[in-house]
Amino acid sequence: MILVTGGAGFIGSNLVMHLIESSETVLNLDKLTYAGNLHNLASVDSGRHIFVEGDIGNHELVSRLLAQHRPRAVLNLAAESHVDRSIRDPESFIQTNIVGTFRLLSASQAYWADLPSDQKSAFRFLHVSTDEVYGSLGAEDAPFSESTPYAPNSPYAASKAAADHLVRSFFQTYGLPVLTTNCSNNYGPYQFPEKLIPLVIHNALVGETIPIYGDGKNIRDWLYVTDHCAAIERVLAGGRLGETYNIGGASEKANIEIVELICGILDEERARRDGKSYKEQIIFVRDRPGHDRRYAIDASKIRDDLGWEPKESFTTGLRKTVNWYLRNQGWVRNVTTGAYRDWIAVQYDREGAQGPHSRRRLGDTSLPADQSSVETAPANL
Ligand code: NAD
Ligand code: TYD
Repeated sequence: MILVTGGAGFIGSNLVMHLIESSETVLNLDKLTYAGNLHNLASVDSGRHIFVEGDIGNHELVSRLLAQHRPRAVLNLAAESHVDRSIRDPESFIQTNIVGTFRLLSASQAYWADLPSDQKSAFRFLHVSTDEVYGSLGAEDAPFSESTPYAPNSPYAASKAAADHLVRSFFQTYGLPVLTTNCSNNYGPYQFPEKLIPLVIHNALVGETIPIYGDGKNIRDWLYVTDHCAAIERVLAGGRLGETYNIGGASEKANIEIVELICGILDEERARRDGKSYKEQIIFVRDRPGHDRRYAIDASKIRDDLGWEPKESFTTGLRKTVNWYLRNQGWVRNVTTGAYRDWIAVQYDREGAQGPHSRRRLGDTSLPADQSSVETAPANL
């Protein structure tokens, strides 16, 4: 039995399915926030999956679940995970990512301390974190390694950094057998369409504008979600206690490049009725405050020590992802209801939610009304 927290979210549900395929039994604790969705797990064998709706910050509930189910590991994926939401409303990020992780650690430590010695030495607390704790790279900087100093720039990244430090402290202070993974941007099936890749696919298909922040040249290092799941499994099995492992897809891409690739795939797979390219829907909008310019991961430690490498290339992974969303429009419709529309209206100033917000279409060379909010479009456009 393995306890997975946040197992109804994007990475969590992919991980639950991955573990069940590896013959594990999973106890899944998830609060079912807007990002949690039990439909993600519709295909899992219910004999191997126990779902509990609840908060990682509920010490009593977590203690009871640990005592009752006696898992050999806790994999902590529960989090508030969207940078833009953390900018608008950081409070829940502090509560779940910091206080929640602390309470989960504390309940796990009490459970672990009382285990018989063979189970005690086999127990693991694996904490899933992000490369965003390392801050932002310049174009020529070396990728993030496990020894890169922490320099978080968004409330989300700061809350994850705080959680990482708490995890470390439970190892140093109490000897709790912890492992931490810091991974780059994931993409793949079941990602909530507030994040770049599913948002672009969704907006393209419903005929909405496709918003690119700033100049579109921010770079992320994209990791296909099942590669991430395999890496977590590898770290759980062989990671050295108290250590951290960076996980990346070796796929650095600028946002504009990704958006254009998605539009190109959609043009082939589901051409617009008017015969024009989906690229016509691209607009540049005001940049995200504190927008990190570049993330890149040096994944040599997990490769050399644990033999993990990503299997999916960005080209194959992106096509699989677009095709998954095309085949699963019912899933998308289910998650893009009221609360989702409210978020989109506020974040992208739709329906006048926040007054005028400068936007510029691809190829439009006229000056925006509010020049401070729109950066120069890339030269190749
Ligand atoms: P997600 O937002 O899709 O899912 C998070 C899940 O956690 C949801 O099911 C939600 O209901 C649940 N949750 C939230 N608060 C909770 C609480 N207090 N108690 C219990 N459950 C709670 O996120 P994701 O993209 O699947 O990310 C999973 C983990 O991976 C997070 O810790 C995130 O920081 C980390 N991560 C994600 C990415 C990425 O690109 N998605 C990259 C690096 C790290
Ligand atoms: P996102 O998917 O939110 O992940 P993160 O902020 O954790 O990296 O964003 C990925 C990149 O895409 C990031 O540079 C911000 C950018 N972005 C846009 O340009 N437009 C959008 O509408 C969104 C959601 C993101």
